[in-house]
Amino acid sequence: MDYKNIIITKESGYAILQFNRPEVLNAINMQLMTELVEALENLDKDDAVRCVILTGNEKAFAAGADIKEMADASAIEMLLRDQFARWDKIRKIKKPIIAAVSGFALGGGCELAMTCDMIIASETARFGQPEINIGVMPGAGGTQRLTRAVGKVKAMEIVLTGKIFTAEEAKEWGLVNKVVPVEYYLQEAKDLAKEIASKPPIAVRLAKEAVLKSFDTTIESGLEFERRNFYLLFASDDQKEGMKAFVEKGKPTWKGK
Ligand code: CAA
Repeated sequence: MDYKNIIITKESGYAILQFNRPEVLNAINMQLMTELVEALENLDKDDAVRCVILTGNEKAFAAGADIKEMADASAIEMLLRDQFARWDKIRKIKKPIIAAVSGFALGGGCELAMTCDMIIASETARFGQPEINIGVMPGAGGTQRLTRAVGKVKAMEIVLTGKIFTAEEAKEWGLVNKVVPVEYYLQEAKDLAKEIASKPPIAVRLAKEAVLKSFDTTIESGLEFERRNFYLLFASDDQKEGMKAFVEKGKPTWKGK
């Protein structure tokens, strides 16, 4: 596919997906989402890619779903468009995804960052769920993921007032991993991606799966799931290699098998 709304760059061990609608602050239209999901699914199958970074530009990660695309839609049109089905596919991506956020991450932009596994933010990043100000509410996971990340009272305040919050606040509330000056946010995300890319891939995959499982299960079945993934890793060459290297005080070489 010839992508118009995203730019893909592959580096050693990881890939960067950059939103490319700067004229509308990377507002997320259906075409962008289609391209994003297709690109992510392809990268997920690419053995050379162990981690993916989603990013925008310094001014905007993404200022939300494209308001102009949905302003005149009827409820039934929205239902038939089923645009959020694409978002669900991101959750199925097995490789870790890091959001590198600078500038606006509002509405669907904030939700997209929260769909990622980790968030690196620049000091200039601004998060929020301002949908209430245009007569709607978050529709791409905002009420659920934000609440799990920051707790009920904070989520209520953010969703009901539409207020914008800073990167530092986001970090303090547990939404963001790290905040760095704007000139370093992408490099910081790349460093994190490189570090994850240097780990045994099957263990990374099963560990991500187990952490995500905690969002939709009881502690008991979550622990059971974790244990099974842990045992499963003893079928991998990398487990033998990793533990042997530790015992022999050597350095492991991961095969991804
Ligand atoms: N959809 C469509 N276009 C958007 C957009 C969006 N979400 N956000 C910005 N744009 C466009 C603007 O219309 C403008 O285009 P024109 O030059 O053609 O007028 C361009 O991007 C630049 O934006 P501004 O001139 O508004 O820039 P600013 O710096 O003055 O303000 C802003 C920046 C505060 C982010 C402001 O653009 C804004 O409030 N954007 C909308 C934020 C929002 O409400 N997001 C939620 C969308 S709904 C949603 O996301 C639902 C969901 O849960 C999935």
